[in-house]
Amino acid sequence: MKFFIDTANTDEIRELNDLGLVDGVTTNPSLILKSGRNINEVIKDICNIIKGPVSAEVAATDYDNIMRETNHLLKIAENICIKLPLTFDGLRVCKILTEKGRKTNMTLCFTANQALLAAKAGATFVSPFIGRLDDINLNGMKLISEIRTIFDNYAFRTEILAASIRTANHVKEAALIGADIVTMPSIILKQLINHPLTDKGLEIFLADWTKTGQKIG
Ligand code: G3P
Repeated sequence: MKFFIDTANTDEIRELNDLGLVDGVTTNPSLILKSGRNINEVIKDICNIIKGPVSAEVAATDYDNIMRETNHLLKIAENICIKLPLTFDGLRVCKILTEKGRKTNMTLCFTANQALLAAKAGATFVSPFIGRLDDINLNGMKLISEIRTIFDNYAFRTEILAASIRTANHVKEAALIGADIVTMPSIILKQLINHPLTDKGLEIFLADWTKTGQKIG
């Protein structure tokens, strides 16, 4: 399973990348706003830190303007992945980019049928939004499971990029179902390591080790 970080904050990306835990980065207009930076500059910086795919999202909604923005974003770096809305105009651009061998991420996926369309258009990734479905009292994880079944039924190569992750449990559930990738805020990735018994055990081992009076090396 691959881990992507859902942020446009280069300090956070650098920190987790140094741990060897980041396979890619996803951004969106809200995350660019949060970074307070210019999209061209921040995406370029992220692409210089991360070797894997870096999703940069178009802001246009009609075919011509999506194409114009896509051509601009593609020039930023080789590892740019164009994040497109799951609309017919977005799918049309997706198909063209797929034929050109460029990476795409179809975003704002809330149904299995939308994911099916993304796969038919040859998308590299499809991003089902778990948390936002949970927010309206629907089952985000059920969507991941439905998409997994459909993609396996037909051997679609589009990867399931579980997005809108709100808890460490979302990561575990997505992994159990077989999502190919989880994109999460850095705070969630850091929470994956937490367990009070790990802390307690370490404390006991360190205290006992001190009592032995020994030194390794
Ligand atoms: O990048 C898309 C996604 O992960 C959004 O998450 O928390 O805004 O629903 P959120």
